[in-house]
Amino acid sequence: MRKLLPALYHSDRDGRLSPETRIIALSRGGLTDADFRGKVDAEVRDQVPADDDAGWQRFLGRLHHLTVDVGGEDRSGWAALGAMLTGSEDRDRVFYLASPPMTFGPFCRELEREGLVTQRSRVVLEKPLGRDLPSAQRINDEVGAIFDERQIFRIDHYLGKETVQNLLVLRFANAFLEPIWNSLWIDHVQITAAETVGTPGRRGYYDQAGALRDMVQNHLLQLLTLTAMEPPARNDREAIRDEKVKVLQSLRPIAGTEVDRFTVRGQYTEAAGMPGYLDEPGSTPPTEASSRVETFTAIRAEVKNWRWAGVPFYLRTGKRMPQRRSEIVVQFKDVPHSIFPGGTPNRLVLRLQPEEGIELHIMAKEPGAGEVMLKPVPLSLSFGKTFTTRVPEAYERLLTDVLAGNPTLFMRRDEVEAAWRFIDPILQAWEASAALPEPYPAGTAGPAGAHELLGRSGRAWHEEEA
Ligand code: BG6
Repeated sequence: MRKLLPALYHSDRDGRLSPETRIIALSRGGLTDADFRGKVDAEVRDQVPADDDAGWQRFLGRLHHLTVDVGGEDRSGWAALGAMLTGSEDRDRVFYLASPPMTFGPFCRELEREGLVTQRSRVVLEKPLGRDLPSAQRINDEVGAIFDERQIFRIDHYLGKETVQNLLVLRFANAFLEPIWNSLWIDHVQITAAETVGTPGRRGYYDQAGALRDMVQNHLLQLLTLTAMEPPARNDREAIRDEKVKVLQSLRPIAGTEVDRFTVRGQYTEAAGMPGYLDEPGSTPPTEASSRVETFTAIRAEVKNWRWAGVPFYLRTGKRMPQRRSEIVVQFKDVPHSIFPGGTPNRLVLRLQPEEGIELHIMAKEPGAGEVMLKPVPLSLSFGKTFTTRVPEAYERLLTDVLAGNPTLFMRRDEVEAAWRFIDPILQAWEASAALPEPYPAGTAGPAGAHELLGRSGRAWHEEEA
């Protein structure tokens, strides 16, 4: 209701769905088509422009609902799906699995059993894929037994964000950055995804996941790969993903006693009228394990290769932070020899949200006679202000790519598994540790440990210096 249906509606409005396209929702919910359309109308309507009633009605008309039982006795829903799809074998079919990862294999087996998997079928898997490397491999094997890798789209919606794609254009369609995009000129990189929301109603999922699985294994590591990758030879699916996977394989492992030094985990507590994680109204009451769940994490990572030797990549994500803010900050080194007092090093900020854009902070002279006074000022590109076209939501772009069969912005099997290889030892050390996540009051910028992680090398998080 929040991401997929609005994205599909906008794709329809922009003419990217063929007139025959049908959207068939499968759930255990026992809804009729009319019930489902009513529910979508109630929950999504506020995202529809007031002047598009006709378009909205057309979109609602595309929607259907079937009740299915995965792995159960009742075959009626599957038979109904088979009947709906009969005669459309030569058309594209996208099976989108927004369900818990352990259902991916069983669901694909159901599709195969009903004879629904055609050459033109694709399957989309929502993250997180598994909860560690062995479970991710198992799921990949199960899905891979039914679909070819070219038919499997592992979605990470961060890759559909405009700024993320612009990062590739900025790096590889402009000559001036590449010569300085390395450890000679760059001091460190910060990648932040901070959210103001907590986790109300999501305990069932979040207790199982935590911030590391929910955000770092996928979104943050993907941003890291695009920042650190070598220039690909071509703008094509395999060339780009080949370079990304090399970055993941070059990450210096963080394991054993190093985990305490290079990672931080926190959990928000009640403050400023907001409940703590353990008191969030949720579907299930907190358990013993809930107190071990991290709602914040920060990591000092390193890419061990020629380009990035010695450059820390600081990753950070948290719920109930003071601001919603996702960004990549590339902090350059100081000038080799300064002739002016008061300069600060250049900084490139790629902002994913709230307002997508790119800022390069350069030093300028403050106007005035007398002594030269320096001031950092941003050269700024706001996508919203520069381009008058609507900036599409990440899911719109990605769903269009699935329909077109283009997997460039989706994670390949080896990428997902390489990301788990980096994450697994951190999870294992946290699980083995008696310590609980550090508390931080809701509405603040994470626990003290997050500041120390940078502070001990004389650095600070971007907004603390701004
Ligand atoms: C999802 C996570 O993948 O990304 C959520 O499961 C998180 O916990 C969301 O809130 C953030 O996405 P965005 O696009 O709002 O930054």
